[in-house]
Parts: sequence; structure tokens; C-alpha cells
Amino acid sequence: MPYVGVGAQKRAAESLCGPPMLKVYLSMALGVFLTVLVALLGKYHSENPSIQPRPETLEDYHSQVANKLSDNINAENIKEYLRVFTREPHVAGTENNKKVAHAIADLWTTIGLEDVRLIPYDVLLSYPNWDQPNKVFIKNGAQTVFESTGVSPVIIPDEQSGKYAGHQWVAWAAPGVVTGEVVFCNRGHEADFENLKKMGVSVEGKIALLRYGDGFRGDKVKIAQDYGAIGAILYSDPADVATDGTDQSHVYPNTVWMPNEGVQRGSIMHGDGDPLTPLYPAKTEIYKSRTIEQAKKARVIPTIPVLPISYTTAWQIISRMKGRPVPKPWQGGLNVTYRTGPGLNNGLTLTIDVKSELKSRKIRNVIGYIRGRDEPDRYVILGNHFDAWVYGSIDPNDGTAILSEVARSMVATMNQTGWRPARTIIFMSWDAEEFGLIGSTEFVEEFLDVLQKRAVVYINMDCMTGNRSLMVNTVPALYDVAVSAAKTITNPSKSEIDRGRKTVFDTWLKYWPDSKRKGRPLMPVPGGGSDHAPFLTYAGVPVIDFSYNNASKKDYALYHSLYETPFVNEHLLDPDHFAFHKAVGQMWGELARRFADEVILPFNVTDLAATIMKVYMQDLRNAINPLMYFKEAISDAKQQLTNLGTAATEFYTVASQFNTTITLARSAFEQNPYDPRHVNAINERIMGIERCFINPRGMAGAPQSRHVLFSISSKDSYSGLEMASVFDAVAAFSAAKSAAEREEAGRELAQQISIVQYSVMCATNILRDHI
Ligand SMILES: *[C@@H]1O[C@H](CO)[C@@H](O)[C@H](O)[C@H]1NC(C)=O
Ligand SMILES: *[C@@H]1O[C@H](CO)[C@@H](O)[C@H](O)[C@H]1NC(C)=O
Ligand SMILES: *[C@@H]1O[C@H](CO)[C@@H](O)[C@H](O)[C@H]1NC(C)=O
Ligand SMILES: *[C@@H]1O[C@H](CO)[C@@H](O)[C@H](O)[C@H]1NC(C)=O
Ligand SMILES: *[C@@H]1O[C@H](CO)[C@@H](O)[C@H](O)[C@H]1NC(C)=O
Ligand SMILES: *[C@@H]1O[C@H](CO)[C@@H](O)[C@H](O)[C@H]1NC(C)=O
Repeated sequence: MPYVGVGAQKRAAESLCGPPMLKVYLSMALGVFLTVLVALLGKYHSENPSIQPRPETLEDYHSQVANKLSDNINAENIKEYLRVFTREPHVAGTENNKKVAHAIADLWTTIGLEDVRLIPYDVLLSYPNWDQPNKVFIKNGAQTVFESTGVSPVIIPDEQSGKYAGHQWVAWAAPGVVTGEVVFCNRGHEADFENLKKMGVSVEGKIALLRYGDGFRGDKVKIAQDYGAIGAILYSDPADVATDGTDQSHVYPNTVWMPNEGVQRGSIMHGDGDPLTPLYPAKTEIYKSRTIEQAKKARVIPTIPVLPISYTTAWQIISRMKGRPVPKPWQGGLNVTYRTGPGLNNGLTLTIDVKSELKSRKIRNVIGYIRGRDEPDRYVILGNHFDAWVYGSIDPNDGTAILSEVARSMVATMNQTGWRPARTIIFMSWDAEEFGLIGSTEFVEEFLDVLQKRAVVYINMDCMTGNRSLMVNTVPALYDVAVSAAKTITNPSKSEIDRGRKTVFDTWLKYWPDSKRKGRPLMPVPGGGSDHAPFLTYAGVPVIDFSYNNASKKDYALYHSLYETPFVNEHLLDPDHFAFHKAVGQMWGELARRFADEVILPFNVTDLAATIMKVYMQDLRNAINPLMYFKEAISDAKQQLTNLGTAATEFYTVASQFNTTITLARSAFEQNPYDPRHVNAINERIMGIERCFINPRGMAGAPQSRHVLFSISSKDSYSGLEMASVFDAVAAFSAAKSAAEREEAGRELAQQISIVQYSVMCATNILRDHI
């Protein structure tokens, strides 16, 4: 490929059209630098088309490209793209969302991404009845005392007047009219229902009133259904979404807190991907292995009517409830004493009327490429979804706009300098994420083998929800690259810079310090709730899921509401020239560049080994030690734990030695940059290690959850867990009621520890160059 020549011409053409003087100077400097490289490399070029810059200039070359990419991120473009993508409400499977898919594809094509196209799937989705909103009624006999409107009012007409935009609904709710006594179930955790039981309050045959927050809404509904609820209401409590008060001056549009009639929409499906084609892609020609009835039976789709309400509507219910006052921690922010129920005072009755239907619809992922110069079959994948509950100016389209600008800045850099990434960068815009990660799950199912062989990393940025700090969820081998990338990004916050925190990293470390590792921010295991999940837990592709947020649990009160329109981004979250949006783009681009350009893939295998050996082993010992009392039943597990410890130590030793192998390969490359075989062998092993942790059989009862180290919590789908199968077995052992049960649980625990050990041994073997 004529990597240098063509680019050099384009650079000359583009540097004429008016960037500020400093930039012209810098781009000329880079131009001159690259021209020198061209001259140096030129004579080898015809013999070897996949040439790297000379190693002694490689560091310079990388930092020049990094600076150029970073400078090219233009905040005004992000602002403009955000407006384009959020013109209309665009729920997955609708005509409006199809338009957004095409708008993204058109933009990406214009920008100059290669092979931009749509990848369709036929999936099951769920919608309300747009003509008859969902409602709550409080009645006194036949007389209606209160009736909710079911529709949030428009506050900024220019941005929010789309048809049906205000409808309050959650996807996958069963249709139905239910009258019953209401029970206040707090957050809807299992512990809350158990607590109610102890207080003598049963949810059986009742309507569960569930407070949003601290967990995935679908889990709350599933648990309520398991405890026998015949209907459920999800509400936002002012203590979570309007903490400074619910009067006008303290809520949207004056602040980012939830206004009186604001409602959080969302999915309540349990499980990811198209519910009718588990483990296989929902292509037109692929058989739908599951029926809707089977999906309900499997508890993937709920069987009870559910609707979401505002705190203003919730007050109508809560202020009329009878029963004992709730336990103190359950009391929320409304100006009444919360009571458990069941039921309302004075013989009032509560009715919920939910209208919904399941529909087969076409969804479309958008894909676009920048093909790699040297290793076109190694993929660095960047992704974000584009479907939204309403306008989605935060979730997800600030991410979509930023992703598009990252793409543009890369192509602009190519046009200006002749740079082309060594590995392929793929841009993905996912559809139907909101309904249960459907677009990404179907894609991973369709291209599983190719992804396992070729994907280096998947970098997800769902949305930027706040302006306080970077937040990164990732796997141990990628801790280092996340940290070193963040250290290069200038802090978008002027007040933070004034406090001496010059980079994004400095603020990140301040708000998310890791108590176990001084000097390093906390990077949790990636959980569910966004499109990285199928890549990690099904395919074993390592992921980085990052965001900018408020570094607090009570972040982002407008989540999934009608009020997520560009006004929030422009006037509340990021009024200073979209500085935070821009920094997120710079971080994304820099991460991508490192994975795409560095000679040795930026994975720290020693960090993975150290984390298993030190952190995970210790967590496991702490969990198992109390069970040692059951000498007989635990003895196999105890032995396996010792074996795992030995295997982990060996992995660590071999990983540390691998460092030497890397150094040797690097110096071989430096001596002869035209023979990439040594470094290719290293990179192949690095990728192989991550795949070792996939157990093709999956977790018990969860064949889609295949990563033995990382999985999604079955109790809270938003959280990531380490070694869930092992810890589940520990829990089963603790819960065993007889010697026979304990013996069986002990064997299961031993087996689960042994599976982890098997994966660790696989990783050790991959690192070694002999069997
Ligand atoms: C309590 O809150 C409700 C709902 O926001 C409001 O209508 C009512 O006036 C408040 N009552 C008092 C005493 O503040
Ligand atoms: C890069 O150059 C191509 C070809 O001239 C052009 O179509 C594309 O719009 C350019 N992209 C950017 C981002 O400059
Ligand atoms: C952001 O976090 C700070 C401190 O944690 C808190 O005081 C503030 O209310 C939060 N703001 C939002 C909008 O969440
Ligand atoms: C950050 O967001 C808050 C709202 O959460 C806003 O009040 C504040 O002005 C923003 N800060 C900056 C520097 O843009
Ligand atoms: C990789 O991680 C190990 C262990 O945490 C650390 O000692 C080492 O410095 C890291 N290697 C690099 C190249 O950063
Ligand atoms: C691996 O090598 C690099 C430099 O080649 C060094 O910085 C790092 O500390 C080494 N890590 C270990 C664990 O030996």
C-alpha cells in the first residue's frame, strides 16, 4: 500500500486551509519529520510494503501521531453530531432509529471510513401502546381519587416535542390491568423481600413498589415476580434524583437533577441478546430456537405488568399507604413517613394499567473501518450504541458523537500526515443495546470465531454522564495501558488544573484511588449493562469500558428520561466548549492508537498473573477459610485451592520471564525491523492468554457466561464479578443443610476451583515456547 506517498500529498493540500498558526507549525513539523522518515524508508519500500518506521525514531513517531490525533479532536464537531443524532426520539426497531443508523453510516462514509455498512438482525422487541399511555389509578370504590397521565411534560419545546416522546414505559413488561394491595419493597433486592417477610409482609398476590437505583431494574422485577408479585411499579426517589430539593430552582432545567414528572425508562429483560435466539445470531435465515412462551418460562421476559413513575406520582401512592413505618434506611426523600403496606388507607385501591406488545423488528449495527497497514487482520474495536429510550443526548449519543469525531480525527490525521495505523481499527455503532445488549450480542454470536482469532481489544464508551472524573472498568492485563494513556490527556477541568491536577489521570487517581495499590486508580471488573459484556464474557476478548462521570453513586439523575436532550450537554454538563466531551474523545483515540500502533501489544501479562496470585487467591482463601471446619467435606476443595495457588505462582514466574522474551523480541526487531516474526509470535501469545479463560461449556445454567475469571453478577446485572462460578459454589457449600448435601457441594467447589486452575495452566503453557 502506498502508505507514505499518497498521505504526503494530502497533507500538503490540507495544511493550507486555516488552522491556527501554532497548529500549522506543529503539522509542518510532523510533516517534515514524516518526510524524513519517508526518505529513510523509501528505499526498502518496494521490497517490503509493511514497513515500520525505524525503531530509533519510533517513539518520536508515536508521540507525534498521538499529538496530531489529539489536536484533531474538535469539540464543535461533537456538538454538531450530537444534534444530528438526537433530533427525534429513536427507540430501537423504529423508523426514527433506522434514520439514525443511516445518518451515522452517511457521516462515517463522508469522513472517509472504509467499507461502512449496516449489519441487520431480526429480533424480538417490546413497545408500549403509543395511543394509550400506561397509568396508575387510585380509587375509592368506583370513584377515581388519582389518575396519572403516563406522559412526562415537555420542558424545552424546541428539543422535546417529538411524537410520543413523553411516554412512560419499560420494555418487556407484560400487558395487563392489575388491582391489588401495594407493598413497599425498597430497592427490590432479595434481602429487602426477606426483610419484609420477617416483618410479616408478603408480596404474594400484591403489587410491588420498587425504588430505582442500586441495581438493575430487571433484577428487581425478576425478584419481585419470584416472590409472587402480580404487578410492579418502579419509581425514582427524590433522595436519589433530586437531592437538593424538588422545587423548580433545584431541578432541571435549572440543574441536572430530575424534574417533578421525570421518569426513567429502561429494559426489564433478564439476560442479553435476542430472547428467541440464545447463543446464535438472529439472522433471517437462522432458526428461532426459543418461543416467547419459553422465554417467559425461563424468566428471561417477565410475566407481570410493570410501569415506571415519577416521584410526584409515587408521592400519591406512598402518602396513602398503611402498615408499619419502613425500616429507617428505607425511608426516602418524600415528605411523608414511608410505610410497608400492604395496601392503602381508608379502603382505597390501587390499579395499574399497562399496555404493551412484543414485535419482531429489524435492527442494524453500523460498522466502519480504518484498515491496518501492517496487520489488517488484527482488530482494535471501538464501540458505542446509538439506540435511545427517547432522545438520548447523554445515553448513548454523546458517546456516538464522540466516537464519530474520533473516527474523523483519525482519518484527518491520515489525510494530513500519511499515517495509517499498523492494525485495523473498527468502529461499531450498536443498535438495540437498550433492550438488552441485543445488537452487540448478536454480532458477537455471528462472528465469534473471527473475533476470537483477530480482535485485540474492544473499547466501549457508552456515554459520558458527568464531568468530575474518568472512570475505567477493565481487566488486569490492561491496567497499565489505561493509566499511561490517561496520563497523556490534558485535564479538561480548569479548576482541577488550578489544583495542580494537570492530566485526566491526576483527577482520576484522586476520586478513584485503589486502596490496595498505591498510585493506581481503582479499575473494577467490567460488569453488564453495556456492549462490552458479550465481548468479554462470551468471546474472551479483553475490554476497556470507560466513561467520564460524577464519581458518585448519585450520578446522572436524568438517566433514560425525556430530558436527555442537547440542552443538558451544552448548558449544564459541559458548558465550557464541550471540553469534557473532547477529553473523552482524546482518551478513546489514544487508547485505540496504542493498541493499533505499538509494536508489542500493550498488555501487561505480569499484572494479570499478579492479580490472580495476590488478589483473587486471597479473596478465595478468605471465603473458604471459614468452611475449613467441615474437614471431610471441604478436603478436596482445600487440596484444589492449594493446587490453584501453585499454578498461579508458576504463571506469575513464567509471566515475569516472558518479560525477558519480550525484551529480546523487541531488540531483534530493532536490529532488523523488516522481520516482524519475533514480535508477531509475542503478540499472538499475548492474545492467546486472554482466550485461555474461556470455558466453552459456560457457567452452570448460563452457557453464555463463559469467562472463568470475569462474569456478570446474577444478582445485579450491572456488576462484574471475579470467579463467579467458584464463589457460587462457596455459597452453595455454606448453604448446605446436611452432610450429604455438603459432600456434594464440596465436590462441586473442588471442581470449580480446578476449572480456574486449568485456565491458569493454559495461560502458562501459551507463554512458554515449549510444552
Ligand atoms: C409534600 O410533597 C408533595 C409532593 O411533592 C407536595 O404536594 C406537598 O405540598 C408537600 N407537603 C408539604 C407539607 O411540604
Ligand atoms: C480524507 O480525505 C478523503 C479523500 O480526499 C476525503 O473524502 C475525506 O473527507 C477526508 N477526511 C477527513 C476527515 O479529512
Ligand atoms: C456530583 O458529586 C458531588 C460530590 O460527590 C455531589 O455533591 C453533586 O451533587 C453531584 N452532582 C450530580 C449532578 O450528581
Ligand atoms: C459539571 O456539571 C455540573 C452539573 O452536574 C455543572 O453544574 C457544572 O457547571 C459542570 N462543570 C463544568 C466545569 O462544566
Ligand atoms: C507489569 O506489571 C508488573 C506487575 O504488576 C509490574 O511490576 C511491571 O512494571 C509492569 N510492566 C510494565 C512494562 O509496565
Ligand atoms: C519488564 O521489563 C520492563 C522494561 O523492559 C520493565 O520496565 C519492567 O519493570 C519489567 N517487569 C517485570 C515484572 O520484570
